[in-house]
Amino acid sequence: MNIFSNLILTSSVITLLIGCKATPKMDPLEHQAMTIKNVNVTGIADHLPGFDVYKQQGCNACHGEKLEGGLKGPPIIFALYSPSSHSDARLDKSIRQGVKQDHWYFGDMPGYPDMSKQDMKQLINFINTSLKMNDFF
Ligand code: HEC
Repeated sequence: MNIFSNLILTSSVITLLIGCKATPKMDPLEHQAMTIKNVNVTGIADHLPGFDVYKQQGCNACHGEKLEGGLKGPPIIFALYSPSSHSDARLDKSIRQGVKQDHWYFGDMPGYPDMSKQDMKQLINFINTSLKMNDFF
């Protein structure tokens, strides 16, 4: 082996080592915690009646006071839940029927089958207005 091939071998070993270090396999729960930590809610539509519904129904216990997510539920102020990807009808269905664990690792969300139409309407308006306030359209 000459000096040249030795150099190539050494540098590819170094590249491999750096590569492994840069892309460690992250634990999904750790990844989820980090995603939530990076959520930056600039404000929510807490002047709307739907905010009271949100608290009365206990949504804040899982999704946080500012829709920022927490230890039991994901952030709602999140690109995934933009009004353009989650229609009012979809929100109504998810909230009424509950949601099976899908995008996150918190387990299932319980359903609210008995919520009045008026409460649901206000809740959805509160969620969508808050999303728009954070530039998620
Ligand atoms: C016990 C915790 C818990 C409570 C209480 C709760 N949620 Fe959730 N919610 C979740 C979890 C967990 C998910 C995500 C499921 C997944 O995708 O893995 C979720 C998902 C959602 C979504 C996304 C729906 C979709 O179609 O993907 C919305 C919107 C939402 N919740 C709103 C609410 C509202 C409004 C309330 C109160 C009426 C509420 N949640 C109460 C845990 C909760």
